[in-house]
Amino acid sequence: MSATLYQQQREHIAALNLAYQECLAAHQLDSLAIYSGHARNHFADDHATSFQSYGHFIHWVGMADVQHSWLVIQPNQRPQLYLYAPADFWHLPTQLPEEPWVAEFDVHLCSDKITPPLSGRAAIIGDVIGLESAEQLAKAATLHPDALVRELDELRMVKSAYEITCLREANRLAVAGHQAANAAFIGAAAELDIQLAYLGASRQRESEVPYQNIIGLNQHAGVLHYQRYDLSAPKQRYSLLVDAGRRFRGYCADITRTYAGPDAPGEFGDLITAMHGLKDALIAHIGPGVEFLSLHEQMHRSLADILVAHGIYEGSAESAVEEGITRAFCPHGLGHSLGIQVHDVAGLMHPDGTPSPAPKTHPALRLTRTLRPGMVVTIEPGLYFIPMLLAPLRNKALPINWGLVDTLAVCGGIRIEDNILVTENGADNLTQ
Ligand code: GLY
Ligand code: MN
Ligand code: MN
Repeated sequence: MSATLYQQQREHIAALNLAYQECLAAHQLDSLAIYSGHARNHFADDHATSFQSYGHFIHWVGMADVQHSWLVIQPNQRPQLYLYAPADFWHLPTQLPEEPWVAEFDVHLCSDKITPPLSGRAAIIGDVIGLESAEQLAKAATLHPDALVRELDELRMVKSAYEITCLREANRLAVAGHQAANAAFIGAAAELDIQLAYLGASRQRESEVPYQNIIGLNQHAGVLHYQRYDLSAPKQRYSLLVDAGRRFRGYCADITRTYAGPDAPGEFGDLITAMHGLKDALIAHIGPGVEFLSLHEQMHRSLADILVAHGIYEGSAESAVEEGITRAFCPHGLGHSLGIQVHDVAGLMHPDGTPSPAPKTHPALRLTRTLRPGMVVTIEPGLYFIPMLLAPLRNKALPINWGLVDTLAVCGGIRIEDNILVTENGADNLTQ
């Protein structure tokens, strides 16, 4: 790992320490304990669900798989990391890497699951529900105070140089997976085999993915969060949509590509090209001071142009937006903040923590912020043929070319998604 990354990480932790010190002072706290979280067993079983540590814990520690551990922050003291590391011959003991960031913490290796030492006015954040000590903790500290958590969430909105390096590397690894997925599709692979090709090339096991990869052939490309992997390839290969990510030191990539198969109607390939153009045009508009909501609305206007240009909608582009036609073809938001969580925190609030909900007309939008340098967002325009959403339009006398829609429906849909850093002058596309 490069010396630059290590140096950036130490600077990241130093800046975090300063910001937390200010938060502690503002909330008159003498200690703040952040719980890593832990995996829970399936009901009545001794096997656990897959796990990722709590985001605010990862923000400091940069490891997404630490369990039963605590980080305690106190005024004018070094951060105290209580790492659960039992003597256990069933499992590989938890270890910290031999990396410079570890020296920023006082590390206590704990052979038991501890309750964190707290002093004075204390707060605890993290998923402590169900811990044996939960009652005792609630007496010693305020659990998950909203105002404090909103401030800490806000600290995650603008990324440090270290975080940007991690997000860039997560993208680089994920892109290798996407290339392998495309190659597998060309080789007529089944959804499961495309998934395995993706995991292999992006060097990760399935329990580590930041979200369940969406690998949809044909109509499955139009199921927005399609969650299965068919074991055999379909006879006709119209399309493939791959929405798949990668973590790097806890930070997520979230990339989508759509491909036309050998049996796709010709218009489908043209629509994919148009959607790439739409994605790039939206990215060209990104910069400090831009309202993400206005970019989302721009997506709808441009989507209307595409529907008209490709003969899907035979009315005016303006009416396609006004009548809600574009929302039937793209029901999700343009994108979201990206970081330690794929749908990262603080997307629907103002910088001062007051709510900034999605407008009623665009309820699925996850980001309503004014863009600032250092924010990282996804740009993911979509165009789908979802029978459930199109059905109500069929009874209306709308100038929709249903013959063409029905021809394209076998392809499911298109989504193209890149991860974008807002810079001082515009945007830097991390998905190269
Ligand atoms: N992969 C989930 C999303 O694109 O938001
Ligand atoms: Mn996304
Ligand atoms: Mn995605």
